[in-house]
Amino acid sequence: MMQGKSILLIIGGGIAAYKSLLLIRLLREAGVKVRPVLTKAGAEFVTPLSVSALAGEKLNEALFDLNDEAEMGHIQLSRAADLVVVAPATADLLAKMAHGIANDLASTLLLATDKPVLIAPAMNVRMWLHPATQRNLAQLAADGIQRIGPDEGDMACGEFGPGRLAEPAEIFSAIAALLGNGPLKGKRILVTSGPTHEPIDPVRYIANRSSGAQGTAIAAALAALGAQVEFITGPASVPPPLGVNVVKVETAAEMLAAVENAAKIGLDAAICAAAVADWRMAEQTSSKIKKTESGALPALQFTENPDILKTIANWGKNRPRLVVGFAAETDDVVRNASEKRLRKGCDWIVANDVRPETGIMGGDENAVTLITAAGAETWPRAAKAEVARRLAARIADALGGQA
Ligand code: C5P
Repeated sequence: MMQGKSILLIIGGGIAAYKSLLLIRLLREAGVKVRPVLTKAGAEFVTPLSVSALAGEKLNEALFDLNDEAEMGHIQLSRAADLVVVAPATADLLAKMAHGIANDLASTLLLATDKPVLIAPAMNVRMWLHPATQRNLAQLAADGIQRIGPDEGDMACGEFGPGRLAEPAEIFSAIAALLGNGPLKGKRILVTSGPTHEPIDPVRYIANRSSGAQGTAIAAALAALGAQVEFITGPASVPPPLGVNVVKVETAAEMLAAVENAAKIGLDAAICAAAVADWRMAEQTSSKIKKTESGALPALQFTENPDILKTIANWGKNRPRLVVGFAAETDDVVRNASEKRLRKGCDWIVANDVRPETGIMGGDENAVTLITAAGAETWPRAAKAEVARRLAARIADALGGQA
């Protein structure tokens, strides 16, 4: 699907540069030609030899390499690719890009290119949060530069927070979505993701711990296979993926309305990964519930939320061909999830064991069992992006494409 496409990959200087070696491998496996450019600082972290060996390409390191200027000038180099990717994009590279500085090969290529550019930033958390970096990012977004990540987590420098380079599989999915051609081309797929927030009064709400990470990864993987993804998300803690139509909602009722709206022009599949709250307040109050002098506790009255998955699965002639639900279980995972498949009327259930000791809820990995009419299939534990890629490939198979 990405076969024959070509990418100019600029590798900046940062400890995360090793991940761009894995990215090169993923791209090459998918038949993508990678033209690497290593900045001077990048070469402090990964060797020119490993980069060029993995890419199977000559490495472009210096701006005024005489041979290169004769064979292929930097202007041409910046335009020969279908997409320019900067990973890791350091604070320094971002600053140069935002200000149009061109004082080495990487920054010159970035100024000279007429192709879309994707940046995958990676830096220390303070550098990321610094107003200067945030100003540069806003400028780059206004200039139409696409961005993936950074992720939040433990950093090599010992700090914690946003600044980690997105995982190679995530960057790969973002690249594939931007190149936009695959077995799901022409298919419209709805993905619900994240938690919902149900207001108790104007200042309080009921929430759950869903991060939206798995739903986001699935949407990215579907887009990577060329699908037109309608991504309907509650207030998730991870940003939505690239290359999808994003609709942000708060409550289950808003999510259902957005789903119905997206379904107006037909859907081929619906993947319900959202952790929708089961209940909301029976009545809306427009003023904050106050503590009383007597200490009497408020009697909160709940009512049931619509079951979005069940609603979609029972749409009759408007039902998407494939409806997939999720089941977060703590006991008897396969039996409970199989029952849930029948009860909801969906085609597949992706079941996972969310006992705290599995570390799955809120973690980077997932271990799932896919339950279909044909039975249960347990997949090996893997990064959420990997699980998403596998599920997206299965969806492509089911809808008649080939991944
Ligand atoms: O019923 P339970 O919450 O265990 O089912 C989980 C599945 O149902 C998930 O796919 C979730 O997205 C979906 N769901 C929904 N609307 C609800 C509750 C759950 O779409 N109100």
